[in-house]
Amino acid sequence: MPRPLIERFRQVLPVSETTPVVSLEEGSTPLLQAPRLSERYGREIWLKWEGANPTGSYKDRGMTMAVSKALEEGAQAVVCASTGNTAASAAAYAARAGIPALILTSEGATGEKVAQARMHGALVLAVRGSFDDTLAAARALGEDGNHVLVNSLNPYRREGQKTAVYEIVEQLGGAPDAFVIPYGGGGNTASYAQAVSELGLQTPIVSVQAADRQHTIATAIRIGEPAHREAVRAADAMVRSVDDAEILTAWEELATLEGLFCEPSSAAGLAAIRRGDVPGARLVVTITGHGLKDVATADRLAPPPLEVEADPDAIRKAAAGDLQ
Ligand code: F0G
Repeated sequence: MPRPLIERFRQVLPVSETTPVVSLEEGSTPLLQAPRLSERYGREIWLKWEGANPTGSYKDRGMTMAVSKALEEGAQAVVCASTGNTAASAAAYAARAGIPALILTSEGATGEKVAQARMHGALVLAVRGSFDDTLAAARALGEDGNHVLVNSLNPYRREGQKTAVYEIVEQLGGAPDAFVIPYGGGGNTASYAQAVSELGLQTPIVSVQAADRQHTIATAIRIGEPAHREAVRAADAMVRSVDDAEILTAWEELATLEGLFCEPSSAAGLAAIRRGDVPGARLVVTITGHGLKDVATADRLAPPPLEVEADPDAIRKAAAGDLQ
């Protein structure tokens, strides 16, 4: 039965009986076997499908914690800087909590993600600047005392996000040979490392970044300076780099071979596996966000539909090439 992540993992989270639980029933996401990709790359590949979270990304795991704790501590409002997914998640959980959200989106945030945040009634400010500039502004606002910062610099965010590792180990009946995740700011790598340590595992984390961090087509991870670089280093994560062409190929393979439509950044992990940069026989690749978060890129790259008349013969003729 689905239930709030905080209830499910209460024992390993810093909450008490009196913490107000702000939840959209996040977490408990599928761990899908990937038979075609496994065959193609000669590994046992599993996909942790985080696009199945309420707002379409893994951010909800952290946001249920950050907003619940903010409420417990008497916060009046929350603030975040975001390439889009944190924005959508913060806006949704703030609406759920009944407190205002100030959302600062950086250049590159997709229209879908910004629309999500707007729809929840948050004040959305499109900042003319990179994610790094935007995060600096959000941190300053967080220090004024009126807003609680709900970026992953907020430790409660990382507490919530670590639960993905707990779920994977339970679903798989043990640890994989590696956890493979995208690397933007590194908050998720730090979260996974925390869980690996708490569970007493030796499993490496492979953190995959865009080779061109500032300009990548994978807008979710378009971050020049990772805020958690030190934590990523301390976690001994294996950092790998993939270029946009590799990301797009992996993105298409997830959709066409496994039926999983994610956003481009989420394909970074598979891109690293494709180039032979990931050790281990049994790999769990975290697919961090839903493809509907970036329809414009899909529309640009997927084969365009052919136009036909509403006539069975014309349709048969158009389909013939595909059926042979
Ligand atoms: N995947 C997706 C879909 C993301 O939205 C992000 C980060 C990452 C991976 C990278 O995770 O930063 O913890 O290393 N998105 C942030 C945002 C920056 O504002 O939504 P990370």
